[in-house]
Amino acid sequence: MNNFQYHNPVRILFGKGQMAQLPKQIPAQAKVMLTYGGGSIFKNGVYDQVKAALSSYTVVEFGGIEANPTYETLMKGVEIARQEGIDFLLSVGGGSVLDGTKFMAAAIPFEGPDAWQIVANRAKFTKAIPIGAVLTLPATGSEMNYYAVISRQETQEKKGMGNPLVYPQFSILDPETTFSLPPRQIANGIADAFTHVMEQYMTYPVRAEMQDRMAEGVLLTLIDEGPKMLANPTDYDAAANIMWAATMALNGLLAAGVPTDWATHQIGHELTALHGIDHARTLAVVLPHLLEIKKETKREKLLQYGRRVWQLTGTDDELVAGAIQKTADFYESLGIPTKASAYAIPASTVTEVVQRFEARGMNFGERADITPQVVGEILELSL
Ligand code: NZQ
Ligand code: ZN
Repeated sequence: MNNFQYHNPVRILFGKGQMAQLPKQIPAQAKVMLTYGGGSIFKNGVYDQVKAALSSYTVVEFGGIEANPTYETLMKGVEIARQEGIDFLLSVGGGSVLDGTKFMAAAIPFEGPDAWQIVANRAKFTKAIPIGAVLTLPATGSEMNYYAVISRQETQEKKGMGNPLVYPQFSILDPETTFSLPPRQIANGIADAFTHVMEQYMTYPVRAEMQDRMAEGVLLTLIDEGPKMLANPTDYDAAANIMWAATMALNGLLAAGVPTDWATHQIGHELTALHGIDHARTLAVVLPHLLEIKKETKREKLLQYGRRVWQLTGTDDELVAGAIQKTADFYESLGIPTKASAYAIPASTVTEVVQRFEARGMNFGERADITPQVVGEILELSL
């Protein structure tokens, strides 16, 4: 097992009725900015619950944060927050609202001339406005990590940022708030969480038994409970299991002491940036093909995953092929196609993505062997 430090300060308030805890989590004198997305919180009653819980606070609202939140939209919120003297940000919605809120938390007090540098060059910042979250979509793990992924329309870029200063102070996870999710978003959430586990597990063994068993536990939970939540979105226990699994998938615990990959996400972000494809769907377009191209270097883990997660038997070669096929089948079973052609991604995109990675001069993967050329091979296989 590799050395690691692990610290996670996020208070999780999990379960039905937890919204009542909200006033205990935010300082009484705080001037709160309530951030939200395109309006789902008005339709499902979450907005009313939050407003009732915040009745004794001064609240300024900033809505319209889009899926794949953009710098352009978020900077409007930053301006308002600066004018209003906001000192607490409450994100109410999915991962996009929360990621956008994390960027705003850093950008509001940022003293440099260009807040995009926080994302583009991971410019250091030393201050951030405190954040709380009410999560309505299990998927990203943003509720218990310090990452955010921000897009810039002007340049068709989508990039990650991360800093412990933007950990939420608390996250309220009430599975009942997910009951209004459409099937597409439930499927996306399951697929995203599944891929997060794979990015931290499907590498090479370092005899980290706890981490491997936990990763396999999260995968098995998603595989068992995901179809139940899709079939019945108001099944509280299915939603609760998926919600906690998605949080566990990306709160840092699975990555402690093990190598990680993240190439699928890096490539996927380019597909969202260029074609606006939902985040989770871009991952399904990449991962099965990445596994095929990298099946020799990932062989030991593919065998373990095939046996323990999918209960496969047979020769080693059959197990490897079966494990990759099961991965693709799982996405497809959620209604998420795994071929680029299903999303009308043209062959010219392969060239463009390869050029983008060449310009950055970076390789990816747990062995840093996913070069721009390998990215091209993976995407070619997906066409
Ligand atoms: O905008 P509203 O109206 O709220 O509607 C949203 C949006 O249209 C809707 N929705 C959310 N909760 C709902 C609901 N509809 C009905 N009922 C509810 N309870 O769902 C749509 C998608 O929401 P979004 O927040 O975009 O989805 P998700 O949570 O999957 O977040 C995706 C974003 O997170 C980033 C992705 O790149 C993408 O930008 N990621 C963030 C990560 C992190 N911070 O650690 C890691 C991930 O790998 C990912 O990259
Ligand atoms: Zn993801």
